[in-house]
Amino acid sequence: MRFRDKRVLVTGSTRGIGRATAQAFAAEGGRVAVHGTRVDAAETVAREVGAVAGFGFDLATAAGCEGLVASAVKLLGGLDILVNNAGIWYSARTENFDEAAYDRMMDVNVKSVFFCTKAALPELRRNAGNIVNLASESGVMGQYGAVVYCATKAAILNMTRAMALEYAPQVRVNCVSPGTVDTDMVRLDIARADDPEARLAAMTDYAPLRRMAKPEEIAAGILYLASPDAAYITGTSLSIDGGTTAGH
Ligand SMILES: NC(=O)c1ccc[n+]([C@@H]2O[C@H](COP(=O)([O-])OP(=O)(O)OC[C@H]3O[C@@H](n4cnc5c(N)ncnc54)[C@H](O)[C@@H]3O)[C@@H](O)[C@H]2O)c1
Repeated sequence: MRFRDKRVLVTGSTRGIGRATAQAFAAEGGRVAVHGTRVDAAETVAREVGAVAGFGFDLATAAGCEGLVASAVKLLGGLDILVNNAGIWYSARTENFDEAAYDRMMDVNVKSVFFCTKAALPELRRNAGNIVNLASESGVMGQYGAVVYCATKAAILNMTRAMALEYAPQVRVNCVSPGTVDTDMVRLDIARADDPEARLAAMTDYAPLRRMAKPEEIAAGILYLASPDAAYITGTSLSIDGGTTAGH
């Protein structure tokens, strides 16, 4: 019960890593707000994982981020922990990636982290709260067919450091950097591949630990960084990648 009565907002928590994170916080006593692009899905998941409320906002705009944070703060009666998890990924070579796709990925992955954080900052400062961002192994190494996604995750990694400096000593800011995690994001990519079986095998064999991560394994790292056990940790990234970034 490390999070008894802590007020927690997890963006993009209708499925995958976000959902597992919302569930884990709720299981340890947190008062959690679930969020997704659709309010009906968010409310359903909130009921399923023992969260207090579900909200639907598109976080590609500053107004969406401000709306979400204001709604969550109002309903939870404040905010102690913000997990900036919402994000999109798909693989497409540069010649197939147009301006609209570029803007959308930058807005959902990077702009949302900045504006959700900006909106939550007064509350987090007041409550000595903390933030956990979702970066990726793709933030520290290149990934074929994912030029823009790699740029967004590198941005989150270094935003985490700069935020940690600016918000200290009241607010800690860290990120987790997952490897391949078995979620819809990855399963959709596998389904779209020319040879889905080969793509699945490649993704499974890629990590030295020879499997994808489970969403719960990423949630465990997020909860650790958000917990009092990590009270002296800020501005860092926790790799949860089965060894992919350890070297070859
Ligand atoms: N799955 C992986 O292998 C992996 C690896 C490294 C990092 N990550 C990162 O972890 C995070 C979660 O990934 P996942 O695999 O659970 O993804 P997912 O696709 O399963 O879930 C993404 C969530 O983000 C929300 N979302 C998407 N677009 C949104 C928008 N415009 N506005 C608001 N919410 C939006 C969705 O509603 C959903 O709840 C992402 O930031 C992703 O980049 C994932």
